[in-house]
Amino acid sequence: MDDEFDDAWAVAATVPGWLTHGQARALWDAARQLPVGSAIVEIGSHQGRSTVVLGRAAAAAGARVIAIDPFIGGAMFGGSATRAKFERNVADAGVDGVVQLVTQRSTVLRPAWDTPLAMVYVDGKHDYWTARDDLRWVAHVPPGAPVLVHDSFSSIGVTAAILAHVLPGRELRYLGRVGSLARFEAAAPGRRDRARILAELPWFVRNVLIKVVLRAGRVVGYRRSDPY
Ligand SMILES: C[S@@+](CC[C@H](N)C(=O)[O-])C[C@H]1O[C@@H](n2cnc3c(N)ncnc32)[C@H](O)[C@@H]1O
Repeated sequence: MDDEFDDAWAVAATVPGWLTHGQARALWDAARQLPVGSAIVEIGSHQGRSTVVLGRAAAAAGARVIAIDPFIGGAMFGGSATRAKFERNVADAGVDGVVQLVTQRSTVLRPAWDTPLAMVYVDGKHDYWTARDDLRWVAHVPPGAPVLVHDSFSSIGVTAAILAHVLPGRELRYLGRVGSLARFEAAAPGRRDRARILAELPWFVRNVLIKVVLRAGRVVGYRRSDPY
């Protein structure tokens, strides 16, 4: 199993993206133990870094990945050029046979979704409303299924969605995190699970402060170099 993961990571690490080695391992561990024939939904695929990890784990488990990304154009994520890179990276990793791309917004697909899922990985649009909607995909997994959320306690929108939807809710139990990759399972949380979420808030505040300082630095840097 370790060799399988190392091979998968060696390929995934060549794909540009934000997923770290430890986070890839968390995705792998969750996906690799899924039942034969089961389906994983990945929301937000970009160039396929996490898709390659999930695809390799799914192939080994006899499962499949449904990768959801609208590939909307823009400076940050790059539109159809990114889609082409995604398709090439998935094919080069040898997982195109287990990865199905759905080019649509997760929020458009979710209300009419009827395919049962065994795992959900959320790494799509990070605004509050989208992140909150993406957490609702838990309705499609069985009790105990893994639900992993990237940029938790790091992005303001994702964290606000967790605080508004998971903290008072009865659907997701917080297990812990690898960096900003939060691991949940589909289960009713107890008091300790909710307390573990609240205990992440100092780390969240630290992350926001770092972003504010970095942004302020960029603004100051821009003014210094502004020829006018
Ligand atoms: C942070 S990137 C995903 C990174 C990817 N998981 C990886 O490992 O490299 C976020 C992605 O979400 C996609 N996205 C934006 N809005 C979306 C939506 N409503 N539904 C699904 N994906 C969305 C963007 O196109 C972008 O590719």
